Amino acid sequence: MEKEIVISVKDLNISFRTNQGLLHAVRGVSFDLFKGETLAIVGESGSGKSVTSKTIMGILANNAIIDSGSVIYENQDLTKIPEEEFHKIRGNKIGMIFQDPTSALNPIMRVGKQIVEALILNGQRRKNKVVDSYINAYNKYNATKIQLDNLVKDKELPKNEKQEQIKVLKNQIVELKKEYQNAKKLGKRQVKKEYEGYLITYKNDVKDLIKRKKEADLEYKRKKAEIKDDKVQLKELENELPLPKLIKEYLELREKHNRLIRVTHKEAFEEAIKIMKEVGIPEPERRFKMYPFQFSGGMKQRVVIAIALMAQPQILICDEPTTALDVTIQAQILQLIKQIKRDRNLSVVFITHNLGVVANVADRIAVMYAGKIVEYGTANEVFYNPRHPYTWALMSSMPDMNSKEKLQTIPGTPPNMLFPPKGDAFAVRNRYALKIDYEEHPPLFKVSDTHYAATWLLDPRSPEIPIPEEIKTRIAFMKTEVEKLRGISHE
Ligand SMILES: Nc1ncnc2c1ncn2[C@@H]1O[C@H](COP(=O)(O)OP(=O)(O)OP(=O)(O)O)[C@@H](O)[C@H]1O
Ligand SMILES: [Mg+2]
Repeated sequence: MEKEIVISVKDLNISFRTNQGLLHAVRGVSFDLFKGETLAIVGESGSGKSVTSKTIMGILANNAIIDSGSVIYENQDLTKIPEEEFHKIRGNKIGMIFQDPTSALNPIMRVGKQIVEALILNGQRRKNKVVDSYINAYNKYNATKIQLDNLVKDKELPKNEKQEQIKVLKNQIVELKKEYQNAKKLGKRQVKKEYEGYLITYKNDVKDLIKRKKEADLEYKRKKAEIKDDKVQLKELENELPLPKLIKEYLELREKHNRLIRVTHKEAFEEAIKIMKEVGIPEPERRFKMYPFQFSGGMKQRVVIAIALMAQPQILICDEPTTALDVTIQAQILQLIKQIKRDRNLSVVFITHNLGVVANVADRIAVMYAGKIVEYGTANEVFYNPRHPYTWALMSSMPDMNSKEKLQTIPGTPPNMLFPPKGDAFAVRNRYALKIDYEEHPPLFKVSDTHYAATWLLDPRSPEIPIPEEIKTRIAFMKTEVEKLRGISHE
């Protein structure tokens, strides 16, 4: 079965302007994120993991330069869309969770308010429905416009060719504009129709209420006239006044009506409580009114996850979400992310420097080193049949799972990215390095249809280097540990 791609990163190159010159943080990174999968990006500090995820979120630092590449999401290139467009995506379609929950939360705002805020701000339900119906067509139109802009700026293309291409694009744009305007009209009509039937019942209900109120008023007057001065009976009558009940009924009607048009505070509250339960925050009604400092680190991270989920994102980017937590809490948060991913069919990018963390979470793993993806494959392929010496090094630096041991450092240091080496950046730290490793960067060699590694060791001309014994022992150990973990999580 073909997997549906939700985000496609292609040949991304990103550098930073620094006082010492250009720092090459990301160098030709490509990967697809499939619907419903967890893709883990693993690598040492400085390998470019966060820069890659920040590009997807459109939150790169000001000194960043996107040298080339694209991030395609819903037919548009996220590296090229303007900030106003990005607003609709960031936090809405793509949610994010960072390492430090404390700084992600506002210390002086009640937790509940922080959770509902996103929903209230984004609460134009009817409008959103219309937009959703034509967004794909609109993005296509917009992407082509951007393509045209770039073409116009292009200085290398021969003039004739350029004009020819401009003409083609302009025609396409006219067509695409018509298409998206039609889609918009259609969307509006459809949504209106959906509401029409409902509006009629709403109006009838209101009319009925008004009628009942009038009747109740008359009845009240009649009874009052009958009772005259009997104080006891008068009191009884007052107690039974139908007005409060009618008002309550009316408010409920209004609330229900508003719900269809936009998100109400009441609804946002209910949704927040529901999501707080989903992310395992006990006594959500009570917690709703508390401040972040009244929460433990793990609970704070759950709040951050709840905030991300309020917008019903399709994609979740987690950048070291458990690094600041201690081991047992870390395992709980990992389990939670796994659970919500499954329940909501989310696509997750999970970033970590600790390969061990993703053993029980990732469907696929991409290993990054010095701004490049050096190995990727399914979790089983990378864990049980790692082919890049850097992945071996990551495996041996991993502490035993569930132990409080720290990650061991890999001998040597990553290269200075102001001057990336011309060959394999890992060569100087690689005891299996070949001569060519110092001269030429290895391409990604195919291990299986889903498994690739960029190491000259996989070149047929290279001497055969089997997976080192100590790594094999590690793998065997990992296998039993992961089986144990999977056993737990199936309960
Ligand atoms: N704004 C910036 N200006 C200059 N250099 C930067 C900037 N942001 C990141 N870098 C550099 O880009 C490289 C990649 O950084 P990145 O934050 O992606 O690493 P990482 O893999 O996320 O590491 P960590 O595990 O420490 O979070 C590093 O060399 C870093 O110093
Ligand atoms: Mg980082």
